[in-house]
Amino acid sequence: MTPEQTVSTEPTPASDHVKIFDTTLRDGEQAPGFSMSTAGKLVMARELARLNVDIIEAGFAAASPGDMAAVKAVAEEIGDGANSPTICSLARLNIRDIDASAEATSPATNRRIHTFIGTSPLHRDAKLKMSKSQILTAITDLVAHARSACDDIEFSPEDAIRTERDYLVEAVQAAIEAGATTINIPDTVGYTTPEEIQNLFAFLTSEVPGAAGVTFSTHCHDDLGLAVANSLAAVRGGARQIECAVNGIGERAGNCSLEEAVMALATRRDHFGLTTQINTPRLYPTSVALTQVTHQPIARNKAIVGKNAFAHEAGIHQHGVLADKRTYEIMDAEAVGMPSNSIVLGKHSGKHALKSRIEAIGLSADKARLDELFVKFKALADTQREVTDNDLVRLVTGSNMPPGRAGPWRLRQVEMEYAIDADHKPNARVVMEHEDGTSKTIIGEGQGPFDAAFHAVCAIADVSGRICTLDIHHVADGADRNVRAESVINIDGAEYEGSIREVDVAYAAVGAFVVAVNAALVAQGREKAA
Ligand code: KIV
Ligand code: ZN
Repeated sequence: MTPEQTVSTEPTPASDHVKIFDTTLRDGEQAPGFSMSTAGKLVMARELARLNVDIIEAGFAAASPGDMAAVKAVAEEIGDGANSPTICSLARLNIRDIDASAEATSPATNRRIHTFIGTSPLHRDAKLKMSKSQILTAITDLVAHARSACDDIEFSPEDAIRTERDYLVEAVQAAIEAGATTINIPDTVGYTTPEEIQNLFAFLTSEVPGAAGVTFSTHCHDDLGLAVANSLAAVRGGARQIECAVNGIGERAGNCSLEEAVMALATRRDHFGLTTQINTPRLYPTSVALTQVTHQPIARNKAIVGKNAFAHEAGIHQHGVLADKRTYEIMDAEAVGMPSNSIVLGKHSGKHALKSRIEAIGLSADKARLDELFVKFKALADTQREVTDNDLVRLVTGSNMPPGRAGPWRLRQVEMEYAIDADHKPNARVVMEHEDGTSKTIIGEGQGPFDAAFHAVCAIADVSGRICTLDIHHVADGADRNVRAESVINIDGAEYEGSIREVDVAYAAVGAFVVAVNAALVAQGREKAA
């Protein structure tokens, strides 16, 4: 059979287990804006271990002393024990890189060296300036060298998708003969399509001598938005390892998203007939941990872990979901560890949703009252993006408190001082008024002026709160108050949200914090809703 000929695209590899090879800490952190310290990598590695990934690619040991230290730290802490994930380090196909990876992964019980070299004409001629046969010799010699240092060797012909098929077969065969145990076929530039990659994997897994003794792996980039679809197609073609990253981070447009690939396999098991060992309820917490370690938020509409992934605002959808959530949901939010927030009240919501939410927060309204509340609810929803539980309490109880401010405290004044010399700490003077008519002033200190203001708010309200997220947007809708702040704070282990619109960034940020503190006080029953 000639290499370009098509083969059956439904092979029957031995196992129905697909290994999840996580590269968040290597390909992911390589991307601009995503670099992580050793401490940050350890936070993520702990999450990945709880998620139960098969392999953690912890870094590129030869890239810098910091990367070497990070891979070692992950190998020592996470790789200790027979049941721990395999800890892997990337290495170019040269002795120095391979030896650095061997050293960095040595503390791990299960470890892997992942070595690569470009094989496409562009990589051979423009980058490496090596002939085909020089590259084959390097593969033979250096994969063997890696294998003498470690039993688990992955080899990647970089830019495999743009490599001539017959030469790709030669490169892969040379790696297998030299001792590689996993063959990864990277779509380095995100160029392939599902049909093409499925066909390629079916061809390689059935035609390369020695293929049956190794695991084939897929590594897709998202330049055309096809990384997940291509990875799943590769699996259909015979791959039994998916290289992916949490939230899909990675070079340029990113890698295959771990959570999307895993949930596609789980949700459409009828179609793929394959399993992973991923502890799926850890998907959402792992995604959140990454956004916190890298300070890079994800889009609301991100599949599986975005804020909207299981949320419904439109009346027709809310009605359907309240009757039977399978009408508009193909997965359970709990299956991915997402806190249940499925009904979001906004201007598109209907009466069913309003009634259901009023009852869920322990209040009630008969039909006539509900009709009346619905009119007020719509008027309020037109002025703000979401109607929160606090707003509902205010509507139902008839409080006069302005929208979004149910609870005892109101922010009256903030003054911030941002010292630049070492003798002065940033501080903020905050004045708040209680509904009983008293007011309190406290000067807080912190890492920065906002931190100082948050400390002052907590001291005034007598809570111990910590900011989790703070988003500030400019809202271009012609209104005076065009700064919108949304914050999530943690008090005693529970999270509370606050949002507000103000004319100024400082007032908005601190105001949203106060709204969240009020929500906590009301929820904890320490104060009645105003
Ligand atoms: O995209 C790529 O080709 C890679 C290799 C190093 C596997 O990340
Ligand atoms: Zn890559």
